[in-house]
Amino acid sequence: MKIGIASDHGGFEIKQQLKHRLIMLKYTVIDFGNTINNPVDDYPDFVMPLAKAVAKGEVERGIAVCGSGVGASIAANKVDGARAALVHDHFSAHQGVEDDDMNILCLGGRIIGIEKAAELSETFLKAKFSHAERHLRRLRKISYPENFISGYYF
Ligand code: RB5
Repeated sequence: MKIGIASDHGGFEIKQQLKHRLIMLKYTVIDFGNTINNPVDDYPDFVMPLAKAVAKGEVERGIAVCGSGVGASIAANKVDGARAALVHDHFSAHQGVEDDDMNILCLGGRIIGIEKAAELSETFLKAKFSHAERHLRRLRKISYPENFISGYYF
């Protein structure tokens, strides 16, 4: 599986270690940066290109790391077709894919360590969207938010 990874300085160390772990597990990992630990860099500069690549299908899934994971998830979700979430628990790492077709996992590099980050990433990458009708219906309802009124999708 070809995946993308990105971080700012807040997630840099975890990104570097995670990239190595995922390569060892035979994932093809495209690094969207930052490639150096620059304490004044900005997470959108790396997370937005990653989210665009995921949305365009250039990479199958993405992992975005910032200090808390919050900024990365907010930035990624600005890109149409990106479904990103900040996840620090095992259940959500697979259920977010199975039910919600999450395609970008966001992690807080200042919150969790490499073992937890690796375990969550592997769980996320192995999970598959169920394509169940109820989940497809829910995704349709958020596809065009401007057309959504009181539970109905127009
Ligand atoms: C950067 O210092 C930090 O604000 C950023 O990595 C992230 O935590 C934002 O959500």
